[in-house]
Formats: sequence, structure tokens, C-alpha cells
Amino acid sequence: MTEHLSTQQQLLEWFATNGRDLPWRRTRNPYHILVAEIMLQQTQVDRVMPKYAAFLALFPTVEALAAASTAEVIRAWQGLGYNRRAVNLQRAAQALVAAGYPADPAAFPSTPAGLRELPGIGAYTAGAVACFAFERDVAFLDTNIRRVVRRLLAGPEDQPPATSEAQLTALAAELVPPGQGWAWNQAIMELGALICTAARPQCWRCPLRERCAAYATWSAADTNADLLTFTPTPPRARRKAAEQPFHTSSRYFRGRIIEALGQLADHEAHPLAQLGPLVKDGWTDAELAWLAKLATGLANDGLLVWREQPGDDLALWSVALPG
Ligand code: ADE
Repeated sequence: MTEHLSTQQQLLEWFATNGRDLPWRRTRNPYHILVAEIMLQQTQVDRVMPKYAAFLALFPTVEALAAASTAEVIRAWQGLGYNRRAVNLQRAAQALVAAGYPADPAAFPSTPAGLRELPGIGAYTAGAVACFAFERDVAFLDTNIRRVVRRLLAGPEDQPPATSEAQLTALAAELVPPGQGWAWNQAIMELGALICTAARPQCWRCPLRERCAAYATWSAADTNADLLTFTPTPPRARRKAAEQPFHTSSRYFRGRIIEALGQLADHEAHPLAQLGPLVKDGWTDAELAWLAKLATGLANDGLLVWREQPGDDLALWSVALPG
């Protein structure tokens, strides 16, 4: 869109000199980019970097990942959290192989709609892979892009107008410069990661300051606004509902269970009574039903398998990582 021309130029220029040199920005291999984008969805860049390299060393191709035991894939994921992503990623690899990849390179979908048909691939991942691997000029939102687009075109996120996900996607799409979608989406993500952060955006060094609706509102309200240091304090990104401490949450214990099972050799299983003390300090057998329920959830997500369920005595039921 011509009205956005200089916004696009400013940000692309900024990215050309300020963008980080990240390994997944040096490749267009769709498998590598799929791995990176799934890892990056809920994990910080610094933590992803070593895991990305290690994962690709273990599973260098789609076929290698598809053929691996799920236990190995889950072990390679340890430290990233949200283990379900590992299972989904392997399912996507298996679907690609079933579709004829890599003998038929076109079996790797290159459009957001095609990518979404792969198991476990949502709107964000589909858009990111279409753009970063296949250089499609598409728009998609992650938390950084969403925040930057919202501030730039609609103003501070805690003030009207209310914007729906569909409206923000449409705004994001208007911004994509034809032929430069790859650089544009990397750039807007980078701005959100390095400058237009949730809590302390550094407007003073933002290349889009002069065209930004949020900056206009914030600087007008701040009579001391100093161009050289202007850092507004937007309300912190909304806290999750009256938060439970992490180490008492189901997500924490699900992670502990998978970690404990990951220590076992392939095909070995833990009875619940043996698993309990490895997972929870102060364990008592009164908690067997609780543990069985967590294990059932993990089994439904494909993260573990029941080995033996010999009778009414839950203590003897045993679980393992999927083979
Ligand atoms: N987060 C998600 N995708 C990213 C990318 N391609 N580069 C940096 N951070 C990201």
C-alpha cells in the first residue's frame, strides 16, 4: 500500500543494519524453518538457539524425524517445555513423508492454507513457514507482530479502538510490501523483540516513531517527553488469571513426568508408585489417583503410553514414553 511506503522503507532499512544474525534467517529449508518456528512459538530465542542446532543434528531431515521413536523426539525437546509441540512436529513430518516428501518436493505445502492441513500446524506456523521458507508475501500474527501492528496503526493497546484478531490480521496484511514479505515479517518481529517490547518500549530509538499512533498518544500525554530517552510505561502485558505458582501447576508436573520417563532406557516403564516420588516432593500413595489423571492427559496428548494396567491397584499401573 502506497500510504505505508515510508513506514516500510524505514523498518526495512532498520532491519538491514539492526536485525540479528539468527541461524533460521540464513536458510530457506522448509523443514529447518518449521522446526525453528515451532520452537520459537513459546520459547525465547536464546533458549531455542542451542536446541535448534542439537535437534537438527539428531534429526537432520524430515524422513529422519518421521522415522525416529517418539521417545527420542521428546528427549530432544527437553528444556524447551510444552512437550506436545514435539509430538505434533513429528506428526507433521510423518504426514509429509506419507504425502511423498522429499522425493516429491512439492509435497511440502508452500501456502498457509496447505500448511495448515498438516497436523498440529496453526495459523501462525503456517504463515511463518510460507513466508520464511517459501518467501510468500503473507501476513500472520505472533505476540510481537500483533503488538507492533496494534501500536503503529491503532494506538496503545489499552486504549480504544478495540481491535479483533481479524482486524489486526487485515492491518498486518496491508503493511506487507510486495516482494519483500520475508524481510518485512522478520523486521516487524525484530522490532517487537528488541524495541517495541510489551513493558518498556524504547520509542526514542524506534525507526517508526514518527508514524506510530501509540507514540503520538503517549508523547502527547507526557509533558516531560524527552526524545532521547522516551520510554513510555504501558500497562504490563495482562497477567494470567490469578496466577498459581508454577511449581504447583499441572504444566509443571506434566513436565516432571516426561523428564522422569526420559531418564529411562527405551522400552523401560515406571509403575506409578515408583514415578510418584520422582515427580513430587513429599509424595504419598494417596496421590496415586492424581498422578493417574495427569498421566491420562499426557497419554491423550501422545506424550506417554500406558504399559500395564493390571487391575484396580493404581500403584502397579505403569507408563513409558511412546516407542
Ligand atoms: N520468533 C518467531 N519467529 C522468529 C524468527 N523468525 N526470528 C526471531 N524470532 C522469532
